[in-house]
Amino acid sequence: MKPEDLVRPEILALKAYPVPAAEGMVKLDAMENPYTLPEELRRELAAVLARVDVNRYPTPTPQKLIDALARRMNVPRGMRLLLGNGSDELIQIAITALARPGAVAMYPAPTFVMYQMSATFAGMKPVAVPLREDFSFDADAFIARMKAEKPALVFIAYPNNPTGVLYPEEDVAKVIRACPGLVVVDEAYHAFAGKSFMPRLPEFSNLIIIRTVSKLGLAGIRLGYMVGRPEWVEQFDKVRPPYNVSGLTQAAALFMLDKLEVLEAQAARIRADRAGLGTALAALKGVTVFPSEANFILVRVPDADAAFQSLKEQKVLIKNLHPGLRNCLRVTVGTPDENRILLTALREAL
Ligand SMILES: Cc1ncc(COP(=O)(O)O)c(C=O)c1O
Repeated sequence: MKPEDLVRPEILALKAYPVPAAEGMVKLDAMENPYTLPEELRRELAAVLARVDVNRYPTPTPQKLIDALARRMNVPRGMRLLLGNGSDELIQIAITALARPGAVAMYPAPTFVMYQMSATFAGMKPVAVPLREDFSFDADAFIARMKAEKPALVFIAYPNNPTGVLYPEEDVAKVIRACPGLVVVDEAYHAFAGKSFMPRLPEFSNLIIIRTVSKLGLAGIRLGYMVGRPEWVEQFDKVRPPYNVSGLTQAAALFMLDKLEVLEAQAARIRADRAGLGTALAALKGVTVFPSEANFILVRVPDADAAFQSLKEQKVLIKNLHPGLRNCLRVTVGTPDENRILLTALREAL
């Protein structure tokens, strides 16, 4: 017997999410915060983690952490939170709960690949609606397509990955109002955008927000959170594996929420450096820069495969999106030193 005889054809057709080796590289491929925690905080965190009873299962619903998140992230009154092993898991949970036979998951594309992958895993029909050439959002075209497809679930990355574009707030609101299903606004990059649907959550009965602490500087702990009306979150909670957020993650997150200003200052630094990096990239011959509200920048170059390869040889790792996004590369904003290395290497590569 071979796997091909038993594994579902749509899974056989997929490729595993690619994570390239990064040892010894200047790592600008995964939208991580390039700054580590200050030494003093690391020591305090170590002491906090040392007190976690790792012989016990973690608390399935850690109320203290949930309350702290609600407070620090300005979650409107009456909304409920659900924690996930990264927001990846929350995407999967929402899809699993709504994957009735034949149900549609819809999203503007190109976007975060896990919407399509998770929908496929669960047997939902993924429907990608193309963005305009400049990666802006055609809300009317999207709404027209929603009328035809009647999606159970719509994903809007706000701002979008891999383009960095933040769609106009009223366009997203229009989509939420017109949607016959549930809309998940994915705010993975909210720390760099300064815009959020969080305050408007009570306005819509079909809106869920998901966020992550990954891009804020805690990618290693794997924590995402979903916020929505209790009646929605109650259903999603049934799908969640009981101990999905480890005790070490819970303790680290609670500790760091108390020191959020350190991460917020790092995010502000990254935002400021994004502007300088964007200007410097745009000054390179043949490079087109797309405006970004996230912690990465999308660029178009004359030959993305060649540029990517040359950067790799120069020990700089970025994301090559070609041919899906014709001749596009995505670079994460790094430290000033890393950004300088990138610019020098790219100059050489072009
Ligand atoms: C739009 C978007 N949503 C969600 C995620 C997943 O983040 P995590 O699983 O680290 O919380 C990413 C990661 O790149 C992303 O770009």
